[in-house]
Amino acid sequence: DRMPELLRTMPKAELHMHIEGSLEPELIFALAQRNGVSIPYASVEELRSAYAFTNLQSFLDIYYAGASVLLTEQDFYDMAWAYLQRAAADHVLRTEMFFDPQTHTERGVSMQTVVQGLHRACVDAKAQLGVDAALILCFLRHLSEESAFETLEQALPFRDLFIGVGLDSSEVGHPPEKFARVFARCRELGLHLVAHAGEEGPPAYVWSALDVLKVERIDHGVQSIKDAALMKRLAADRIPLTVCPLSNLKLCVFPDLAQHNLGQLLDAGLVATVNSDDPAYFGGYVNENFTQTFAATGLSAQHAWQLARNSFEGSFASADARRVWL
Ligand code: ADE
Ligand code: ZN
Repeated sequence: DRMPELLRTMPKAELHMHIEGSLEPELIFALAQRNGVSIPYASVEELRSAYAFTNLQSFLDIYYAGASVLLTEQDFYDMAWAYLQRAAADHVLRTEMFFDPQTHTERGVSMQTVVQGLHRACVDAKAQLGVDAALILCFLRHLSEESAFETLEQALPFRDLFIGVGLDSSEVGHPPEKFARVFARCRELGLHLVAHAGEEGPPAYVWSALDVLKVERIDHGVQSIKDAALMKRLAADRIPLTVCPLSNLKLCVFPDLAQHNLGQLLDAGLVATVNSDDPAYFGGYVNENFTQTFAATGLSAQHAWQLARNSFEGSFASADARRVWL
């Protein structure tokens, strides 16, 4: 079977990964020690054994606790550099990394500390690994739109260090339209726009992400399959879906990988991509997502090629870079 080798070595872009979700238990413990932060787990093994999730919220509680060890610019650099080395090993040529500033600014860490540390890792990735890395600032949707506006204000001095904004955290009960005004402002600022929608939430949230927020990509979007008119819209407008199969498995969005709908999305002509979401928590980086999903669902080499192509088409890389890749 040559499929795993094809999947591992094929050039690809990663469009949906939260940098705080790349924090491995070993690094959480090392940073806790370095910073004198106490965490409610005795060992790496005990922490990892807490990674048994039943839904999105059960994961988010542990994910935000893990991020509490990040204090200095060097911490953010070290976290991002560790991920970027794994991305390079997975033949990722381009990665657009989400970060959640409110998780840090609410603990008294400055926006500058977060952004500068992550940005310095992106610069080094290009020079030392040949990986083209960019940042997307995400607003936490369980917080208010006012807090999102405040976060945007704090980020504006670093406007050139991120390419767009997204919307993440607890989906159900926090529809996209809650953030209509702040996304309109980001649009005026020329930022790229994306949002998590249709992970656990209904197709109606995908519609409002498109029509109210005017996003260019949908993160997850797997629930769109329940709405035939929405599927037509996504295909007609070539709206990329950044699908994360191992995340969906671990958060019980699908009962097993064999029942994942990635193949149906591709066969319906959607610009679906494969991504790792929170690789340290969900059991694998992007290549693991490809190999496990293909093994479970029997997707073809044609599907693999389409996914790689979709990842570059869906990226926000420069027209010049996309010309080379496509
Ligand atoms: N933050 C990190 N991972 C997330 C996910 N899968 N959904 C929503 N918010 C997140
Ligand atoms: Zn996500």
